[in-house]
Amino acid sequence: MTDPRPLNTGSHDLPVSPALDAFMGTGWAATPLPATDRVNGYAFMPARRARLAAAFPGERLVVPAGQLKVRSNDCDYRFRPHSAYAWLTGLTGEEQVGHVLVVEPGGEPVLYLRPRSPRGGGSPYGSEFYRDRRYGEFWVGRRPDLDEAAQLTGVRTAHLDELEDLLKGPQVPTRLLGGVDPLLDALLPADAQLASVLSELRLVKDAWEVEQLQLSVDLTTTGFEDVVRALPLALKHGRGERWLEGTFNLRARAEGNGTGYDTIVASGAHACVLHWIRNDGALDPSKLLLLDAGVETDSLYTADITRTLPLSGTFSPVQRQVYELVLAAQDAGIATLKPGASFRDFHRAGMRVIAEGLADWGVLKISADEAMREDSGLFRRYTLCSSGHMLGLDVHDCAKARAETYLDGTLEEGQVLTVEPGLYLQPDDETLPAELRGIGVRIEDDLVITADGARLMSGALPRSVAGIEEWMGTLLG
Ligand code: GLY
Ligand code: MN
Ligand code: MN
Repeated sequence: MTDPRPLNTGSHDLPVSPALDAFMGTGWAATPLPATDRVNGYAFMPARRARLAAAFPGERLVVPAGQLKVRSNDCDYRFRPHSAYAWLTGLTGEEQVGHVLVVEPGGEPVLYLRPRSPRGGGSPYGSEFYRDRRYGEFWVGRRPDLDEAAQLTGVRTAHLDELEDLLKGPQVPTRLLGGVDPLLDALLPADAQLASVLSELRLVKDAWEVEQLQLSVDLTTTGFEDVVRALPLALKHGRGERWLEGTFNLRARAEGNGTGYDTIVASGAHACVLHWIRNDGALDPSKLLLLDAGVETDSLYTADITRTLPLSGTFSPVQRQVYELVLAAQDAGIATLKPGASFRDFHRAGMRVIAEGLADWGVLKISADEAMREDSGLFRRYTLCSSGHMLGLDVHDCAKARAETYLDGTLEEGQVLTVEPGLYLQPDDETLPAELRGIGVRIEDDLVITADGARLMSGALPRSVAGIEEWMGTLLG
């Protein structure tokens, strides 16, 4: 990191003459950022950093944004900073590649950044701005300089080139959030405790985060409406699932940073594949469509919503039978949500409804009580996965939290989570009557735990059979 980086140029780039290089280095007007610019959520960041520092007194904490990943040859995947880095800094843009937040033992945060490229003038990076395909301002856009970044974040900044010397300098107890930046992984061991604390600090959302999540849910609602409106065209397309994926993703990209995870568009039996992202099927108007999608805001918060819709606009009797059982399971799960309830309660309540329904249908040959026992769980052949998770900057948020604070923990006001029971009746499952085979239903909503219960954030999208049919009818005219 201490040597000037070689320029990232392409083999098809033409050589640059010294005369052109000198000419490129002069004659540019100053273009400072407005002095009032601040990161989104600026006021909430200091408390987060202080809570992190308080968890590790006297230690240096290193939280990287991450590095680019090559997609192929000289093309990289689009960059998104690690959620912990975004949560601590408010810096969310693609220009955060390689940047690192260090919290010093006294608690002072310092951002190690690659500043805006200088323009000529003998700097080792003097031609980067117009020649470097990865970092050049004329190739990928402007980055803030160090003073501007300090103004944006309220955090002291230093040049990224100084970081390696700092980390190799006088010994300070240091913890690294590992697995994010391979350059730092080569210098320091990963620290699992830092990773779990960073996840656990994010379990309860502050007021601004709840606002961002509501924005994400609202944009996602609009994206679902777009998908319903696009059905007539998609039904005619040989790969209608892809058409609908593109429809949702257009909204996500136009209004937010993109999607929070790959959009799932599953027609008919594809809905029995939990994460069907191939989306290469045609739409059969007599079947259901499962759409599981979320818009990620520019602040990087994502919704995670699923609706299962009749492509004809009306549920058939058997589709309705399956749908209403899943809906009853979801209602039972949602009814358990409140501070102090155990995280597993909503899952247990929903799964009891499903097990009873499957037993009533004669699909389960044992009683619901028996099927619910830990040494049985036979109903899970038809539900496959657990029915919810924390939601936030990551769709499966806070994933490194310890079991005692998450899976085996209790709910707290300000937590945001999904409740998403499903029934996945595989097309080749010989334990099922023929009419049930190939039906997959998931209903997924986003909720915030309040002082005495939970608020449904995604209630603008109907869930009942009648509500969905009416909503589709209105959108389709
Ligand atoms: N979309 C992934 C999930 O529902 O967890
Ligand atoms: Mn989910
Ligand atoms: Mn989902």
